[in-house]
Amino acid sequence: MKLIRQVDKMQAWSDRARRTGKTISLVPTMGCLHKGHLRLVRHARQQADVVVVSIFVNPMQFGPKEDFRRYPRRLERDLDMLKKAGADIVFASDVREMYPQPLLTVLEVPNLSWNLCGRSRPGHFRGVCTVVAKLLHIVKPHTAVFGAKDFQQATVVQRMVRDLNFDVRLVINPTVREEDGLAMSSRNVYLTPAERRDAAVLNRALKEGRKLVRAGNKDTRDVVKTMRQMISAKAGRVDYIKIVNAETLEDVTKAGRGNVIALAVFFGRTRLIDNIKI
Ligand code: PAJ
Repeated sequence: MKLIRQVDKMQAWSDRARRTGKTISLVPTMGCLHKGHLRLVRHARQQADVVVVSIFVNPMQFGPKEDFRRYPRRLERDLDMLKKAGADIVFASDVREMYPQPLLTVLEVPNLSWNLCGRSRPGHFRGVCTVVAKLLHIVKPHTAVFGAKDFQQATVVQRMVRDLNFDVRLVINPTVREEDGLAMSSRNVYLTPAERRDAAVLNRALKEGRKLVRAGNKDTRDVVKTMRQMISAKAGRVDYIKIVNAETLEDVTKAGRGNVIALAVFFGRTRLIDNIKI
């Protein structure tokens, strides 16, 4: 496994791989890897001859009051895990390398970025889209693997790729969970033991919401109310719980098949997201 830190070196490496007929799959990450990320790496292995994992904590997608500074950075450990998982290249650049000067050009997918996390994190998806576009131009992969845990991110990036004819195929991998159902996340390391136990309610609430809709309770408000009660009982502070159309990400009032229940909830200072498809 090779570690590449510079943009021009990464581009040259990818050019060479492509010239020799190799296919490339990219797994973009912000590091502090867990089994969810490693599943994406394994998936990428099946997609292509070479697997590139990028690690970059992207300041552009964090709000001024968010956790950019304290976001966990564990490069040595990440490299160890990636070696074992069979990655070929780790592209780990830093802010000066990725943003040598303030960007004037940014990418945005309006509408899809406005609801859900976009409401409480204005500018977040502009940061995500812009850095993903840069990574796609730097790594030049044939496929890129994303996780369904970040459902809105996957939807927004898919639309960007389609709208702008990026020459890449996106693959969305199912959410990998802990035994008690909590979605794996780099931010889970922030949780105190009590918060960690309480956070398992998120998956239970999502499943309960789906069960209610499947049983014929179509009224979104009722379903959300039940979920909110479950989560509040475990000291979760709800940012949002919504049932949305899976393509447009707009709220639905009557929930049904194909919709997605998505939520963001604080446990202490830690904001966790999760979702489930009905
Ligand atoms: P990060 O949170 O590190 O996640 C990297 C990728 O791993 C994303 O596609 C995310 O959806 C996926 N992932 C995270 N937890 C997962 C889980 N439990 N199961 C399955 N997949 C999971 O998402 C980002 O970084 C950034 O926004 C990025 C796309 C790298 C742009 O900066």
